[in-house]
Amino acid sequence: MKILVVGSGGREHAIIRKLAESPKVDKIYAAPGNGGISCDAECVAIGAMDKEGMVSFAKENEIDLVFVAPDDPLADGMVDTLMANGIRAFGPLANAAVIESSKVFSKNLMKKYGIPTADYETFDDPEKAVAYIVEKGKYPVVIKADGLALGKGVIIAQSEEEARAAVKEIMEDKKFGASGNNVVVEEFLTGPEVSVLAFTDGIALKPMVSSKDHKRAYDNDEGLNTGGMGTISPNPYYTDEIADICMKTIFEPTVAAMNSENRTFKGCLYFGLMITPDGPKVIEYNARFGDPETQVVLPRLKTDLVDIIEAVIDGKLSQLNIEWTNEATACVVMASGGYPLAYKKGIEINGLDENGQVSGATVYHAGTKLENGKFLTNGGRVLGVTASGKTLDAALEKAYAAVEKISFEGAHYRKDIGKTK
Ligand code: AMP
Ligand code: GLY
Repeated sequence: MKILVVGSGGREHAIIRKLAESPKVDKIYAAPGNGGISCDAECVAIGAMDKEGMVSFAKENEIDLVFVAPDDPLADGMVDTLMANGIRAFGPLANAAVIESSKVFSKNLMKKYGIPTADYETFDDPEKAVAYIVEKGKYPVVIKADGLALGKGVIIAQSEEEARAAVKEIMEDKKFGASGNNVVVEEFLTGPEVSVLAFTDGIALKPMVSSKDHKRAYDNDEGLNTGGMGTISPNPYYTDEIADICMKTIFEPTVAAMNSENRTFKGCLYFGLMITPDGPKVIEYNARFGDPETQVVLPRLKTDLVDIIEAVIDGKLSQLNIEWTNEATACVVMASGGYPLAYKKGIEINGLDENGQVSGATVYHAGTKLENGKFLTNGGRVLGVTASGKTLDAALEKAYAAVEKISFEGAHYRKDIGKTK
């Protein structure tokens, strides 16, 4: 098979490395890919949003399957366009990807179908949003831009003043562009967070092993929210008992709700959960694999990923038994100085071998480019250094030992991955 993977981050690198293990795969292309990915796949210069470019490339090169990994092209209908052109594609149609691309949609879906989530109201008018917040008078309060915002469109306001500023930033200053035309104002929940990715063909749903992301930029969960600074799998807070509750009250009802809305979801559905004192609740849905969750989840997959993808596309997932290792995995993200705010690009990365790797771990490249045989930084999140072990501590030790071998000017990474709630 010839497979084309759309995207250019650490998640895509992890997907490509897993696909490469399949005996069914002859050739992998990445569009556009990155420096590290170019060591494992042929990178082609087609932007991840370029639907027409993707269709032409797939046709000219007789691609058997296109894996659309990022949120933006899914929300924009990349899978719809590929399928309309007779090209097999993995990922939800745009009308289902809306479960991620509109928080107003997903919150209303949960309310309508009784899926546990934080209490909320939605607003298209900043004055009404502020009036509601002031009337409730309960802080912290959570304010979310409706649309996609690279995982950064959520503000936890500790006071009325911060809440007013947040509404202004999102709705008036348009810090996240049109994503902030509407906002969700919701109750602040507490408890450990769990990420559960699940394969679904719209009929059956098979959860993958659990993971935990660390979204804040700095140790002790300080600093701004990021796309994710590191992950572990399994998530120690996700017990079998909680998994059963989630299956019955969240996962299966979500698949059914999407079917009832004529928005059948096929692909990877990501549940961002909080285990609150009142039980597990949904913080957010994503319509895709998480980044950097994928980097710790897919290495544990024993079943051929191609077989799973085919089963999802063909509606045969219930017939497939998916197997995972019992190992623990940990991923430490090395980010550019300044990320998630402004940062420099083009800084040389030291310590990587010619394949962009170091011994003792797998280095998934998130934001790198390869120039004259040198790896340079090319994004906010640069590398996801990942290792596995019999225990979480063993995995963490190996991942951090590998991180020590890598350096670039301004690099920052969290020292407490796997240690916080
Ligand atoms: P989201 O993009 O919706 O996943 O939100 C980003 C992060 O903000 C989450 O991972 C949580 O840490 C935090 N968060 C979002 N919603 C809430 C909430 N209702 N209560 C507490 N924390 C939240
Ligand atoms: N790591 C969070 C996400 O992929 O949205």
